[in-house]
Amino acid sequence: MSRRLTFEVFRYNPEDPDAVPHTDTFEIDETPYMSLYIALNRLREEQDPGLQFDFACRSAICGSCGMMVNGRPALACRTLTAELPDTIKLYPLPVFRLIGDLSVDTGTWFRQMAERTEAWVHQRLAFDPEAQEARMSDETSQKIYESDRCIECGCCVASCGVANINSDFLGAAGLNRMARFMLDPRDDRDNSDWFEVIATDEGVFGCIGMMACEDMCPKELPLLEVHAYLRRRMLATGLSKQDAD
Ligand code: FES
Repeated sequence: MSRRLTFEVFRYNPEDPDAVPHTDTFEIDETPYMSLYIALNRLREEQDPGLQFDFACRSAICGSCGMMVNGRPALACRTLTAELPDTIKLYPLPVFRLIGDLSVDTGTWFRQMAERTEAWVHQRLAFDPEAQEARMSDETSQKIYESDRCIECGCCVASCGVANINSDFLGAAGLNRMARFMLDPRDDRDNSDWFEVIATDEGVFGCIGMMACEDMCPKELPLLEVHAYLRRRMLATGLSKQDAD
């Protein structure tokens, strides 16, 4: 016999001056292999066409469907209701600007992070249309690929105690992005350049080691390993700067 699921869903439209944040309760019958994405679509189709939430790929690739599920950040498309109790509480991810109900604006946060950290390959050479393609070892490309698996869903940022109280903190996603370019041999920035960007309280030294980012990452990225790599490199740069002074 299928379970009857109860959904308590956060509702609020920040554009409506009369709106008051509250939760609405819905009930539906669980079906085999039901994901939260399927459940939310059914709620919207059958009970409340105004319910706002995001999705695009439905397969843990686009990073759109992050939300708080019974207090933990998760992707709705990848979370099966079978893994959850009869009552499921859904809230929007904190840290990001609320668009409405369960929909948040992660795009602006990630764009601002990328602009602040100049998250693109920097080359000091003038553009040469005849240049040969730069080669790199398999080992290096694998490391870069590992960092590039981030889908920018925001689950690590939402779970981070520091990011929740310091809106300037780069968070695990931002630091992972930096590590990606530090590993890239095509990027000409040196340790001093990186030091200016991430050896701060808003960067790698702002982390207080709660480790929720790695626990909550739906792509299981090795965020603590990335963090340790950045800290080691920035610490060594800081010490060599001190010696030089
Ligand atoms: S819908 Fe794309 S990650 Fe969930």
